[in-house]
Amino acid sequence: MHEPIQNQFDITELDLPDILGTIHEEVRARFGEGKVANYIDALAHVPLDQFGMALVTREGHVFEVGDSREAFSIQSISKVHTLTMALDAVGDALWERVDREPSGDPFNSLIQLEYEKGIPRNPFINAGALVVADVILSNYDKPEEALLKFMRARSGSEDVGGDEVVAKSERESGYRNIATANFIRSYGNIKNDVDAVLDLYFLQCSLRMNCVELARSVSYLAGKGRCNVSGEQVVSWQLATRINSLMMTAGTYDAAGDFAFYVGLPAKSGVGGGIVAVVPHVMSLCVWYPGLDDQGNSILGRFALHRFAQMTGLSVF
Ligand code: DON
Repeated sequence: MHEPIQNQFDITELDLPDILGTIHEEVRARFGEGKVANYIDALAHVPLDQFGMALVTREGHVFEVGDSREAFSIQSISKVHTLTMALDAVGDALWERVDREPSGDPFNSLIQLEYEKGIPRNPFINAGALVVADVILSNYDKPEEALLKFMRARSGSEDVGGDEVVAKSERESGYRNIATANFIRSYGNIKNDVDAVLDLYFLQCSLRMNCVELARSVSYLAGKGRCNVSGEQVVSWQLATRINSLMMTAGTYDAAGDFAFYVGLPAKSGVGGGIVAVVPHVMSLCVWYPGLDDQGNSILGRFALHRFAQMTGLSVF
């Protein structure tokens, strides 16, 4: 097997603390923008005066600013980690049950599922993540423990855990997810008990982590599959490139085109206001601001990543 070319960007000339400081100042001037995810009661009261940003270089150096150590609900960012676990368990067989196309529709949309016969468009929309959760249930002895173990090993933090209030709140208002899971089950593309699938999905969404932990948790996507926290080869370098490509085309749902245009980095968002992003071979990042735009992506998190890409010239294009 050949090794990929290094494709190194030289970041030693960048004044990263200064760049993060400038972004922080610009973001603070816009505090209050966007709306919190009010369809989940437990997230509806998070104040809009918090912003954090952290980046972890491939060598493991951390640069951070603002509320980068404040834990928040990671929500759909967890779909990157569960996809990795499912691919580790079943490999390419996953693609018989989940497609790899951008959906162009909201993350919780059901509309494509019927005419595509229960095969979700990609693993990052809710429908896809529910199938991924089903695959984890079928292939791990203790799925919830396996998920927590994976997150703790990737982030280097034993503090990572689920927030029962958020998980309960999601379940209580989870009519769409419940409908989606049952609909997929009707096509036979969910094999386990629907409630067990939903429990795992709500647990992964309810995990609380901070920006530094989240940036670390995807370091393997910036390091050719190698996690710079544990030193483990989490996935092959080829698989890391593929997960990055899915984040680019589907990680921010119906805003993925705009993200590619304005940021140019693979990214995955969550309705808790976090977004992780990857500069392949160079660094992984996380930004957090709880106010969301119409597509459910952090409005100032997106702005911060845009400014970061603009100031550093880092882009995959
Ligand atoms: O399924 C839901 O509604 C949430 N628990 C997760 C959604 C989410 O984070 C979508 N991301 N932007």
